[in-house]
Amino acid sequence: MMTPGLEGVVAAETVLIHVDGGAGIWWLRGHDLADIIARHGYEGATALLWEGFAGDRLSRAAILARFGAAREAAFAVLPRWLGAAQGRPLVEGVRICLAALAEDSPPDAIAAALPVGIAALLRARRGEPPVAPDPTLATAADFLRMLAGTPAPPTLAAALDTYLATVIDNGLAASTFAARVIASTRASLAAAVLGGYCALTGPLHGGAPGPVLDMLDAIGAPDRIAAWLERALGGGERLMGFGHRIWRGRDPRADALQAALRRLGPAAGRIAFAEEVERRALAALRRSKPGRTIETNVEFYTALLLEAVGLPRDAFTPVFALARSAGWLAHALEQQKTGRLIRPAAAYIGPRPDQAA
Ligand code: ACO
Repeated sequence: MMTPGLEGVVAAETVLIHVDGGAGIWWLRGHDLADIIARHGYEGATALLWEGFAGDRLSRAAILARFGAAREAAFAVLPRWLGAAQGRPLVEGVRICLAALAEDSPPDAIAAALPVGIAALLRARRGEPPVAPDPTLATAADFLRMLAGTPAPPTLAAALDTYLATVIDNGLAASTFAARVIASTRASLAAAVLGGYCALTGPLHGGAPGPVLDMLDAIGAPDRIAAWLERALGGGERLMGFGHRIWRGRDPRADALQAALRRLGPAAGRIAFAEEVERRALAALRRSKPGRTIETNVEFYTALLLEAVGLPRDAFTPVFALARSAGWLAHALEQQKTGRLIRPAAAYIGPRPDQAA
């Protein structure tokens, strides 16, 4: 039987993450999201994911040190590719950054190439030279520092760290599956992460948060919400930041990011307006898609949080990739270690030789 979209198809066994959208479960190596955010942060979550695959007895401190050293190494090789990305859109620049990785790059080098590369690309288009990393800092704080050239306010660095930890892995998302398919051929980790990135960039996956802000801009004011939603849904448009293949109930990651935003206080920007849009959008979706459970997904509050920490909207998908790269690497390593070549079949519906044109 053919299952378009492969929903319900189990394509791997994993020790890394358990996501059950119906039951509201998100466990990373047995830790729930609140624990990951409060006690582990991005580097601690990476240590949990990489344990047994990219080292043993890994700790948050060990990953902090490894990522710091790897950012310095990534900075040293920026001249190899930065010029080739000159004048290209950011999404292409990040593809060039990942494509420039050496074939035998270890996981740290791949993960660290993204914060260094994205910061350098954003500065280059402002006509500013890259800022060298501070290897003693965590990824979130150092990324914001490399971007601005000055240390980031701790509240913003903490909000970004919460984001990176929250989206580090979500099971067999399209991008993670793509990375596992590539790794299943025994291709390199660098190839698997580049493939994962490419899959992430589509608007049905990691490309949604920028368009969430476009939607808020287009709505503009609270008195225009109802009419705007009615026109969009009436015209068959999809509302960005709503719906998910797996999360049919409320996605705990949306709640975690909403809470992180609220902790920013006035720096949280247009959160009150966004919450009103969310409330009305959920009601409108219930009316226009009765019988479907379409809830707020992780991208809605991602957009607001990344805007609040000062990122331009075309950087949202690259920063999602920065976070998710640690997950892609864990899945690619697990696939290489325990998996089989992934090679499904297709049901042929084309002409027979006697019918061929
Ligand atoms: N707005 C309006 N209608 C929607 C939305 C939405 N956001 N999401 C689903 N629907 C509708 C579909 O049009 C479809 O209606 P139909 O049966 O009348 O044609 C129905 O609900 C079911 O849609 P599916 O496509 O089967 O849902 P699926 O599980 O394949 O899609 C997806 C999930 C792609 C995320 C979808 O909800 C969507 O396009 N959302 C908007 C884009 C978005 O926010 N993407 C980010 C996802 S989060 C992430 O990847 C990190």
